[in-house]
Amino acid sequence: MNDIQSSLGYTIFLEDPIASLDNFLSSSNYSKVAILGDTHTLAECLPYLNLYSSYSSTCDLIEIDPGEDNKNIDICIGIWSMMQEFGLDRNSLLINLGGGVISDMGGFAASTYMRGIDFINIPTTLLAMVDASIGGKTGLDLQHYKNHLGTFTHPKGIFIIPEFLGSLHELEIKSGLTEVVKHGLIADHLHLRDTLSYLSNGLPGVNELIPQSIKIKLDIVEQDPTEKGIRKALNYGHTVGHAIESYYLAKGKLIMHGSAVAYGMMVEAVLSEMKCCMKTEDVKYIFEIIPNHLEPAKVTQEMILDLIDFMKLDKKNTDDLIKFSLLSEIGKPAINITCTEEEITEALLKCIHYFND
Ligand SMILES: NC(=O)c1ccc[n+]([C@@H]2O[C@H](COP(=O)([O-])OP(=O)(O)OC[C@H]3O[C@@H](n4cnc5c(N)ncnc54)[C@H](O)[C@@H]3O)[C@@H](O)[C@H]2O)c1
Repeated sequence: MNDIQSSLGYTIFLEDPIASLDNFLSSSNYSKVAILGDTHTLAECLPYLNLYSSYSSTCDLIEIDPGEDNKNIDICIGIWSMMQEFGLDRNSLLINLGGGVISDMGGFAASTYMRGIDFINIPTTLLAMVDASIGGKTGLDLQHYKNHLGTFTHPKGIFIIPEFLGSLHELEIKSGLTEVVKHGLIADHLHLRDTLSYLSNGLPGVNELIPQSIKIKLDIVEQDPTEKGIRKALNYGHTVGHAIESYYLAKGKLIMHGSAVAYGMMVEAVLSEMKCCMKTEDVKYIFEIIPNHLEPAKVTQEMILDLIDFMKLDKKNTDDLIKFSLLSEIGKPAINITCTEEEITEALLKCIHYFND
């Protein structure tokens, strides 16, 4: 796996990530280095770094509890305070060692601390390796609304260490595979074919899917780093998916990001047929893949009004209209598509009945 050099000014290290990390840290001359992780990633992944990287054992540690319900301003204040306590100055580095919650929140904390210090991402979930750690979106949830605080700030490097997947729960792997499938659906038939082959018979291995999935995301982000246009395509499944995540967060229940997005991709496939003339056979195909191979969230009829309320504050909306990133066919995204509440309700009901019948 060759390293990927991004035109956005950083490298995604795939080939020998631990040696590259050592090299990056020893040649960078940072005054202080701190590692941010959650209880699981510091227990499972940090020992691996300590074992192989000469540098990581000398870093200060900032540990938070795991889970989306910690991706908020209160926990972020705790992170900023620890950075201050450890004496991090403008020439310091924050290492985000964790899944998407850590890279989103650590990126946000670093990009705002003292008006911005450097950070690097060492993703430890499949979802963060192929998606969350790439692309420069940092974020926190606000009042259960997903990522309503955030910046566009790129890390100085991303280090992909697939060995970390060894301690990850199988359901979290499926959550990450949702974004891998999404990348195939929006941009790349061959990648979709390889992903389905992995999901059906384990070949090629999941590690082999990672570089191509990263390339698909990076290629789109490089064309539109601040999401004025084509980058919105990456939000396929996410208008509904984020609403489902917000709904469960507000109820104090946690679901995986990938589960919410998997359900969202089904609802948005129905909307794609209604609004973008996607072929019925493509919708059927998506309805086959997702329940068979991924772990879509549970959605009931009673949730519909709340879900639509959450969608009304989606970040892609303009002029009080709910905007979607859909598909006109597999491999061809269609962005800025307005759907009415009636259309969204119809699509949600179709999915709810699909699972109930
Ligand atoms: N910035 C972006 O572009 C972007 C893109 C997609 C998703 N996201 C965000 O990413 C978040 C979801 O990320 P996630 O799915 O990685 O969730 P996560 O960070 O909550 O990690 C999932 C769980 O796995 C544990 N874990 C992580 N690595 C582990 C390992 N190697 N071994 C054992 N346990 C491990 C974590 O402690 C956590 O309990 C959401 O907040 C979502 O909004 C951001």
